[in-house]
Amino acid sequence: MRITFGITWAAALVGLANSVAQSLAFAKPAENARAAAAAYYDSETGFTFSEYKVAYTLTSNVVVRIAAPSTATSGSAYPVVLQVVVPNGVGWGGIAWAGNMIKNPLTVAWANGNAAVLSSRWATSHSTPTMYTGATYEKLTTGNRVNGTHWQFTAVCNGCTSYAGSSGTIIVNPKGNNRLAFAFSASKPSSPSSNTSSIPVHDSPVYWNHDFSSGANANFADLVTRNGGHNNEFGNGTSL
Ligand code: HEM
Repeated sequence: MRITFGITWAAALVGLANSVAQSLAFAKPAENARAAAAAYYDSETGFTFSEYKVAYTLTSNVVVRIAAPSTATSGSAYPVVLQVVVPNGVGWGGIAWAGNMIKNPLTVAWANGNAAVLSSRWATSHSTPTMYTGATYEKLTTGNRVNGTHWQFTAVCNGCTSYAGSSGTIIVNPKGNNRLAFAFSASKPSSPSSNTSSIPVHDSPVYWNHDFSSGANANFADLVTRNGGHNNEFGNGTSL
C-alpha cells in the first residue's frame, strides 16, 4: 500500500515536473535574460569570445559568442567573429545587432543537413526581413558543425557592428555593453537550402546587454587566417 502510494506520488511529481519544463520551454524566454557576457576561450579556433547564454529550455541554451579585434574603437567599422551554438529544437535563430527588429543588421541562421546556412537580413517593418548586402559573412573552416543535439556556426562578419542609422553611421561599441536581441522559431524556413528563403515569424525575442570588452583579441587577423578566413581588409565594413 505504501509502495503504491509512493509510486503514485512519484509519477505525479514527474508529470508535474514535465509540464513545468514544457511550459517553461514555451514561456517568454525574455524573462530569463541576464545582463552582461563572460569571456570564453575557444580552444578549437583560438579566439577569446564574449559569451552570453540565452536560456532556451530548462536544460538547454543558445550560446552567443562574439570576438573582436582589440584595436577596434567606436570610431570606425570593425569585423567580428560570431560563433553561435543552437539546440536542434530551434528551426531558425537570428541576432539583431541593435536589439530590435527594425533598421539594424539581422544575422539569421538555420541548420540544413550537416551545416548552418547564414542569411543577412534587414527589416524596415515588423514583417519578413529582406536580404541585406551591408553585412557579409564568411564561415571559417573550424567551429562549424551539426550533431545530434546542436548546430553551430563560426563566421567572420563585416558590417554586423556598423550600419546606417537615421542620423549617420552607428557603430556598436567594441569596448562596452550593447543591447542585443535573439529571435527564434521552432519552425524551419520553407527552403532551408537557400539563404534567401522566407522564414516563419518568431516567438518572443530575448534581450541582453552583451559586454564586448571580454571578447577583445590582439591577434584577431592572424586567428581569422589560421581558421581558414580570407579577409585581409578588415574595417571597411563591406569586404569579404
Ligand atoms: C517572418 C519574419 C518576421 C516577422 C513576420 C516578424 C514580426 C515581428 C512582429 C510582428 C514584431 C512585434 C511584436 C510585438 O510588438 O509584440 C516583431 C518584433 C521583433 N522582431 Fe521580428 N519578425 C520577423 C523576423 C525577425 C528577425 C529575423 C529578427 C532578428 C534576427 C527579428 C527580431 C525582432 C525583435 C528583436 C523584435 C522586438 C523588438 C522590436 O519590436 O523591434 N524579427 N517581429
